[in-house]
Amino acid sequence: MAAFGTVFTPEMIISRFNNNSWSTPEIVATDSISLHPGAHVLHYSSTCFEGLKAFRHADGGIYTFRMEKNVARLAQSSQLLALPGFDKAMLSKMILDIVGRYAADVPVPPGSMYIRPTHIGTEASIGKAAAPSLESMLYVLLSPVGDYFAGGAKPLRLLLEDNARCAPHMGMVKSGGNYASALQPIMKARASVQADQVLFCPNGDVQETGAANFLLIDGNEIITKALDSSFLHGITRDSILTLARDRGMTVSERELTVDELLERAAKPGTEAALSGTAAVLTPVGTLIHGGKEYQVGSGVAGATTNALRQALNDIQWGKAEDKHGWLTKVC
Ligand SMILES: Cc1ncc(COP(=O)(O)O)c(C=O)c1O
Repeated sequence: MAAFGTVFTPEMIISRFNNNSWSTPEIVATDSISLHPGAHVLHYSSTCFEGLKAFRHADGGIYTFRMEKNVARLAQSSQLLALPGFDKAMLSKMILDIVGRYAADVPVPPGSMYIRPTHIGTEASIGKAAAPSLESMLYVLLSPVGDYFAGGAKPLRLLLEDNARCAPHMGMVKSGGNYASALQPIMKARASVQADQVLFCPNGDVQETGAANFLLIDGNEIITKALDSSFLHGITRDSILTLARDRGMTVSERELTVDELLERAAKPGTEAALSGTAAVLTPVGTLIHGGKEYQVGSGVAGATTNALRQALNDIQWGKAEDKHGWLTKVC
């Protein structure tokens, strides 16, 4: 199986913003785009993107999951990066058109079609360090992906890092620079303590990892950081919290300190998990902090984590009722 995100459909859909208007979206080859070397994005990082999935149901129908949320988040990221605004209905239609065109390539569960809308500033100007790009490109890539959990959902090892992942006002923007700024800490954590991910906890405040949100499950309570501008407002996080409420769990969106996390993790029944479009809900088995390792609960994938992941997958795969209206039929 090819690594996640390395296989693309031969075509994508694109619209360009020039002279104050968006071009009619067109289907083009995925293999290249033409960009001036002085394009705003290459110098001043005017870039944001999204990640969502389309699923194949047993009856052959193809459905996207919570597409409007991803479209709204890209519109918000674009606005916060001063990229040209776009019509959300236009992007939704672009997504449905390209997924529909490649419907035959949507894998069966546990695989899916990963969808990557991308918005970049293309104005050729190296003099706009403090001014927005007046031109941009909005395109949607597709990548068929397999089972993220092939080989089992092995509990992760997380290194707790006292620093922030990115600038505090940028966390809710899904922008390339945030990922680049988190790379060195993640690489160091892998090399030094064989951690799978870094859990960023600036000043002891438990935020998120490099590509997923963090959830702590203690008995009937699920605890996660309340939304603010410092971290990405995960759509999987929102879905899992909704499913937890549906099951009668207490959902606490509030500050979680490293001290409280380690104290609760020491209890035998505690579970921790990462939520994200790619990871769905991945169990966390070990926290590493101050040179010491702390097992979370029993250190193995917990029953609640597994049940919540299954509940989410069941909706995505058409095996359970879509009570919250999260699916959009493509074809
Ligand atoms: C930094 C970061 N946090 C959280 C998430 C989870 O977001 P979502 O559930 O919308 O995929 C992601 C995944 O894209 C991410 O990159």
